[in-house]
Amino acid sequence: MPRKKAIILCGTFLVITWNAILLLLLWGRPPLTQPAEPVRDLREVAAKPTMDVVGRVLQLADTFEGELERQKEILLQIQSHQSLWKTSNNDKPKAIAPTQPVLPVLVIACNRVTVRRCLDKLLQHRPSAELYPIIVSQDCGHAETAEVIRSYGNQVTHLQQPDLSNVAVQPQHKKFQGYYKISRHYHWALNQVFKTLSHSAVVVVEDDLEVAPDFFEYFRALLPLLKSDPTLWCVSAWNDNGREGYVDPSKPDLLYRTDFFPGLGWMLLKEAWDELEPKWPAAFWDDWMREPAQRRNRACIRPEISRSLTFGRQGVSLGQFYDKYLRYIKLNSQVVPFTNLDLSYLTEDTYRPAFEKEVYSAPVVKFEDVSQGRLKGPGPFRLQYSSKDTFKLIAKNMGIMEDFKSGVPRTGYRGIVSFFSKGRRIYLAPPAGWTQYDTTWS
Ligand code: UD1
Ligand code: MN
Repeated sequence: MPRKKAIILCGTFLVITWNAILLLLLWGRPPLTQPAEPVRDLREVAAKPTMDVVGRVLQLADTFEGELERQKEILLQIQSHQSLWKTSNNDKPKAIAPTQPVLPVLVIACNRVTVRRCLDKLLQHRPSAELYPIIVSQDCGHAETAEVIRSYGNQVTHLQQPDLSNVAVQPQHKKFQGYYKISRHYHWALNQVFKTLSHSAVVVVEDDLEVAPDFFEYFRALLPLLKSDPTLWCVSAWNDNGREGYVDPSKPDLLYRTDFFPGLGWMLLKEAWDELEPKWPAAFWDDWMREPAQRRNRACIRPEISRSLTFGRQGVSLGQFYDKYLRYIKLNSQVVPFTNLDLSYLTEDTYRPAFEKEVYSAPVVKFEDVSQGRLKGPGPFRLQYSSKDTFKLIAKNMGIMEDFKSGVPRTGYRGIVSFFSKGRRIYLAPPAGWTQYDTTWS
């Protein structure tokens, strides 16, 4: 930094100059005692202090005081310049990169050349190549897709899953071959990220996802929370009920805890991978993650407005939900400066009582009142369910997702599903005093 150097040089020069002047001044004075008349007895001087000596000492003290005052002024000037230099440096976060952790993005690809849409958006919104290396792991050995990935040059790292054989499955699971291959690929790719490349965290993205402008900002801001809260095990970009009209457009900064593993653009720490890797399943890895044995009561963070969108209608699950729900998911477009926000409200101890108070102090209404627009006041309102069937009935009528995985409804937190309807916040909730999920609900 030439500016910093100049300030330091200037300061040093001034300090040295003042000290030199001071020295010259002192040397130029007649000594206090005449060398020709050495003091034989110190008591002699002390006993007979002359006015001359006292006057000189006082004069010298005055000079010293003046010098010190001037030197103090110079030092204060240097200090003020230093603080100027520090703030101007803070405007450039890249200059302080070593203090920020590297957060790689793992893109899971196979045989769709449309991975281009995913990579274009990632590269468009990526704030720094150093802080967010993009690793594209390709399964399936599809040449055309490999060509597309290679066309990005050194903007991404291209890995290829080496085992392209069919997975041996029971005859009745033949139709699920795709799910076995996906699971094998995830296992291999996550081992590459954590074991071979030694990263400590990763954001997993599938090749049919498009990310929002603040995707990177969102995950970076939540990394410290994920590391510090042991009741969390993932952060996801996805809201399963995030369709237009079902989210509050005025709240792009709103985040939730959820007991439902959302996937679809999600962050995982190495510690969690070390725990999952030895028992990683042969197929259906996402539903396996949702089982109590894996989840162990841990939650994920998810946004009100999705930071990912799926454009993959033609997938392994043959668009099971695509046409009904997924294609309508609203992708957030407003950039939220998450790293500047206080996100401590999301820690379990703070979040749980606050969220339950918000939900259970809302008045209970009937779903017909919601759907027919008979609600008075701004909300929030509460819809109550006490069985699997009432949940499904209400969900169907409200247009939110009806399914459960290991007894947990999509986006659910302690049984509560939060969504927006006709401009009002609605909580679909079990009666107060909820204790646990019923894993037989499916
Ligand atoms: C659905 C899920 C997906 C999950 C998968 C496995 C949604 C919208 N999608 O997949 O998140 O991972 O079930 O349970 O809920 N792939 C391979 N090898 C293959 C085939 C596919 O690596 O042989 C990759 C694809 O590139 C993609 C991912 O696996 O990144 C999912 O494949 P896709 O075809 O999109 O399946 P979905 O039905 O969306
Ligand atoms: Mn897909």
